[in-house]
Order: sequence, then C-alpha cells, then structure tokens
Amino acid sequence: MTRANKTQETNKSIGTFVAEDYRTAEVFEKYGIDFCCGGQATLAATCLEKDLDPDKVLQEIAAARSEPLQRSENYVAWSLPFLIDYIVNTHHVYLKENDEQIAAYTQKIAEVHGAHHPEVIEIAAIFGKISTDMAEHLKTEEELFFPAIKRADAAVSNGKNLDSTDRDLIKTSLEKLHREHEEIGDAIHKIRHLANDYAIPDDVCNTFVVTYRKLKEYEDDLHKHVHLENNILFTKAAQL
Ligand SMILES: [Fe+2]
Ligand SMILES: [Fe+2]
Repeated sequence: MTRANKTQETNKSIGTFVAEDYRTAEVFEKYGIDFCCGGQATLAATCLEKDLDPDKVLQEIAAARSEPLQRSENYVAWSLPFLIDYIVNTHHVYLKENDEQIAAYTQKIAEVHGAHHPEVIEIAAIFGKISTDMAEHLKTEEELFFPAIKRADAAVSNGKNLDSTDRDLIKTSLEKLHREHEEIGDAIHKIRHLANDYAIPDDVCNTFVVTYRKLKEYEDDLHKHVHLENNILFTKAAQL
C-alpha cells in the first residue's frame, strides 16, 4: 500500500470500513472497537486511543476483505426497501422474540444471586429499561420512519419530489433514532462492563450461565442492527 493510500485508509471512519464491507467488523470486534454507535471515529484516532499498531490492523482488514464479496453480505449495495425488510425480518424479529425472555432471566438471577453478586441487580434494572425503550424504538421505525423512507425512495426512483410531510418526518426521526441508538448502545455496554465481559462466576446456576450467554448474543445482534441502520440506512436516507 502506498503512503497516500495508507493515509486515506487510516483517515476513514470505523463505520465506513464496516459499511463498505461487513467482514471487517470481526477485526474491530476482536479489539473491542465500537463500529455501530461510536463508528464515526477514524481508524487513526481509534488505534491511538487503544494503543494499536495501525499497520497491523490494516493488514487484518485487508485479510478480511481478501475473498470476493458475496452479494448476500454486500448490504451497502442493497436497495433501501430490501435493506429495511431485512432489518425488520432479522433484527427486529430477534428483539421481539428475546427482549421479554432476557428481561425475565435477568430478574430471576437478580433475585437468586443478587446477594452474592450485586451487579446482577443493576443489570436487571438496566435491561428492563432497554427492553421497554426498545419496544418504543422499533414501533417508531416500523410504523413511521421505515414507511416514510420507502415512500421517499419510490418518489426518487420515479423522478418525483419527496412529500414534504415525509421529508420532515425523516429529518426529525433521524435525530431521535440516532440518539436512542446511542442511549441503548451505552446501556448494553454498561451491562457488559458490570458483567465483567460475561465471565461466569464459580458459584452460580444454569440460568445465570444462560442469561450471560443471551446478553452477549443480544449485544452482538444489536451491534450489527445499529450498524446497518446508522452507517448504511440512515446515511442513505439522509441523502434522499
Ligand atoms: Fe431497528
Ligand atoms: Fe434502530
């Protein structure tokens, strides 16, 4: 890689790397680098902050990108309506199927293990708020924001002007939804911190093990979900 190319690459934001090629997410995950809510930071700034060698990270990114990219993983090339349906049918369905169950699990382990592991009491309280906030968030996306984007996208495809109500709705929803992603992202990161990166203590039951496993799965799903929205869908919607 030439020096100019390298500078161009290190000045790129983490979110852009992942938007261009989702396979690079595994490199960032490995180093605990946030690519969804905090994805605006550049690679150079992130390496400096985390004390990482940018050359090594760039090599790993190149390795992740080395195979030809399948269209099924090339999210940035998808049409907006298709991307929206994908997000709803995978990530929103995941949340609807799991929010309540994980909230119940965290409540249960708080009752059983709270005396010896007070952190799980706080985890249950935070997760309870996440699941309530998330239900509202999904409702706004599915009932207002996503249909407005689909209408706006159809108008642009047909060479028509955007409806002014849709234009205003998209603009105000983008701000609100971005803010909510940040709040929910911060809350799930706080849970990971309290849970000591989901390390299982020696003196706990199976429900505890399952709860931590589910919380980790929830966080992984959320990272991808928020990434697809913030870095791809919202960026394209803002350009409509
Ligand atoms: Fe969503
Ligand atoms: Fe969202």
